Amino acid sequence: MKDYLHLDGRRLAYQLDGPDNRLPLVLLHGFCEDASVFDPLMPLLPRQRVLRVDLPGFGASDVPGRPGMAMYAEALRAVLDDLNIRRCVLVGHSMGGYTTLEFASRYPEYLAGYGLFHAHPFEDSPERIENRRRGIEMIRSGKKDLYVSQLFPALFTPAFAAAQPQVLHALIEQGRRQPDEGIVAALEGMIGRRNHLDTLQAANCPVLFVLGKEDQIVPYTEALDAASKTRVADIRLLPGVAHMGMYENPVQVASALNEFSAFVTASF
Ligand code: MLT
Repeated sequence: MKDYLHLDGRRLAYQLDGPDNRLPLVLLHGFCEDASVFDPLMPLLPRQRVLRVDLPGFGASDVPGRPGMAMYAEALRAVLDDLNIRRCVLVGHSMGGYTTLEFASRYPEYLAGYGLFHAHPFEDSPERIENRRRGIEMIRSGKKDLYVSQLFPALFTPAFAAAQPQVLHALIEQGRRQPDEGIVAALEGMIGRRNHLDTLQAANCPVLFVLGKEDQIVPYTEALDAASKTRVADIRLLPGVAHMGMYENPVQVASALNEFSAFVTASF
């Protein structure tokens, strides 16, 4: 069940599940999604206290007043403070990973460990910026349905999309329900985000990388290069997985999360 708090007069939705434990696992979703994207993992994380937040402009959270990964990071901090969570393991999927890095650069004291799940620390390439600008134009000219129907198929392998079309349809439906302003703010935020290689290099906690060998959005070779710059990295390279490991291989993704949490807890 979702809970809510208000930040600057805007509603923020989050969900806390599982038994009480010392280090909650916080999961941040990616672009055009909401916290329900982690539903396939939940039965596989039975011993974890899991906090999931709908980032501003997605799910049941109100649209933000300004774009940016910093704004998402501030929203997360508000939820953690409200719940009196002083330390956690934070794992962000894709855009949630970009937010995780922004959070790590601002508030490292909250993190016993953090993870990039199909995410990397690099800023957008000029081509990616161009693509996002085209996306903003499409949304602003009322073509959200077309935009989301083109977005999600590129996140899966063709084999998965053919075998489980219902997953894709459900995500496209979820994308259609997200407000235009939330989508535009996320695109602008991703365009404006900075390179966080320095944040990774400065991490004084373990960093988890969960990467898909077939990911076309976050090529694993680039992410591995970044991973090699961290002091302590736990790297999971998943064969046959593209950008949506929580659907494509929930068992391996959940093992990565459980084992990383156990490792962080033991060394904390
Ligand atoms: C996401 O899944 O959050 C996005 O694909 C990330 C991106 O476009 O860089």
